[in-house]
Amino acid sequence: MSTAVILVAAGSGTRLGSPLPKAFVSVGGKPLLQRALETVAGWSRCDSVVLVVPAGYEAPARALAADVSGLQVVIGGDTRSDSVRQGLAALPPATEHVLIHDAARALMPLDVFDRVLDRLHAGALGVIPQVAVVDTVVRVDSSDLTHGGVDRSELGAVQTPQGFDVEALVGAYASAGGEFTDDAAVLRGAGHDVVAVEGHSRGFKITYPDDVRVAESLLGHASHPRVAVAIDVHQFDSGTALHLAGLEWPGEPGLSGHSDGDAVIHAIVDAMLQAAGLGDLGTHFGSSRPEFAGANSQVFLDHTLSLLTAQNLTVSSVSVQVVAQAPKIGPRRLEAEQRLTSLVGAPVSLSATTTDGLGFTGRGEGLLAIATAVLHGR
Ligand code: CTP
Ligand code: MG
Repeated sequence: MSTAVILVAAGSGTRLGSPLPKAFVSVGGKPLLQRALETVAGWSRCDSVVLVVPAGYEAPARALAADVSGLQVVIGGDTRSDSVRQGLAALPPATEHVLIHDAARALMPLDVFDRVLDRLHAGALGVIPQVAVVDTVVRVDSSDLTHGGVDRSELGAVQTPQGFDVEALVGAYASAGGEFTDDAAVLRGAGHDVVAVEGHSRGFKITYPDDVRVAESLLGHASHPRVAVAIDVHQFDSGTALHLAGLEWPGEPGLSGHSDGDAVIHAIVDAMLQAAGLGDLGTHFGSSRPEFAGANSQVFLDHTLSLLTAQNLTVSSVSVQVVAQAPKIGPRRLEAEQRLTSLVGAPVSLSATTTDGLGFTGRGEGLLAIATAVLHGR
């Protein structure tokens, strides 16, 4: 009897809020899809795997699946049901049983796959893993009134992999209309019975950013902070206006530089890029990038924050110290902190010191800013 797994991974992950499709989002240092594939690749009872991915992601998916034997990669559709249909169409002809699994349930253990297949071998046409509902359940009507009397011992929360007799499921899909949230509903719609086996709490569907953190702590990969320190120095130039810490400083000599010379923001950006392992200011905004000449430093900050988001990194906090004889930071410290906090989207603290008249800052030739950025995985 030949068994296939269809791994559906073609969703966009809207609720996760990542610019990458959910399957390619890192969970403890590995793309979610790779984790799901490793589970399936380690299942000796599977003869072939059909991987359903978003259009344009076939090559990176194949690279992740290099070790999986009997694998095909197909492009998914706009809805999960469309993606499943694409997967079913690609099944090898002799396949008798199919397990359809959400890549988003990347931590589902193999004993659940075994339980599902055992019931198929025992003659079931449709099998779903389910877990008990632990919360009290009520009905809520359109005026927010709650109605009790729902017996949760009769309820089950449905997971994947869901197992099917291929002929029965393909027939059910051929006659199904509309949208279904799972494949068992399609089989039921065609009048077939679907039985339940015990699922697993680790098979939860990674849906929201917090789910990634839960998965990482279950894997023992609770994300460690990434920290970097960076400095920036600019020379005073009395011919320009001072931009510092995202504020204008009327009457104070300005700072020279390729951009607006805001050493505080430059040091912050450099520390963030370093902490993320993304190079430095020069890599992204150097003098070889004429489009950034004279640019408002907030442009650097916004661009850097979008680079961090693409890496699933978020800023936890930033602190900056300004080393200079002038301007006096103290009277505007709170205002500067508020401005920087709103620009960075995380708490930014600012302090200042002089060097007792020593060195280039003591002589009033220039200003130095030193920033520490703390980042976390999303
Ligand atoms: N899926 C798919 N094709 C789609 C939509 C979903 O293959 N058009 C897959 C997802 O990749 C996921 C599984 O179905 O493995 C369950 O879907 P869900 O958790 O809703 O993932 P997304 O649709 O990606 O997320 P969201 O609904 O937040 O956009
Ligand atoms: Mg979805």
